Amino acid sequence: MFTRDEALELFRKYNKSESLYHHALSVEAVMMEAAERNGEDASYWGLVGMLHDIDWEMYPEEHCRKAPELLKEIGADDAFIHAVVSHGYGLVTDVKPELYMEKMLYTVDELTGLITATALMRPEKMKGISVKSIKKKWKDKSFAAGVNRDVIQQGAEMLGKDTAEIIQLAIDGMTKVAPELGLWPVEENT
Ligand SMILES: [Fe+2]
Repeated sequence: MFTRDEALELFRKYNKSESLYHHALSVEAVMMEAAERNGEDASYWGLVGMLHDIDWEMYPEEHCRKAPELLKEIGADDAFIHAVVSHGYGLVTDVKPELYMEKMLYTVDELTGLITATALMRPEKMKGISVKSIKKKWKDKSFAAGVNRDVIQQGAEMLGKDTAEIIQLAIDGMTKVAPELGLWPVEENT
């Protein structure tokens, strides 16, 4: 298995945007949180999270189809590649999320985007952010209109979880890396 440093190097090779980097760190953190709660391998789940959009910036037309080739550069195996590719199920691939880990990735990908957009509107950013505040923004369809709420809903159903539970999990995971995401009040960073 490759290391986190190798994964990060690959990510940086194919992604120059800071917002995509923050998105990768967000999904990594939430996947790790989910793994820890389920007694699973947090570093493995985290790497899947970090690299899930590896082909997005440079190959948007081939999203999830270019990824296998890029991931093989660091020796990712078929299971890892399946997990990454399955997050585009119904949108850009027909590879279905089968494992609990894959269903989690599918669900939290869009959800981290909604949480980020909500946090950016608040002076306190992620600090003290609640499930209620996310739900409110979820219902406001004009807010962060690019976030596909249906995907989050479908993902939660695949997981057999209430959306509130998944939102709380995602908040908890993202809060742990909030300063690195630029989502913590500045005076709290020192
Ligand atoms: Fe993503």
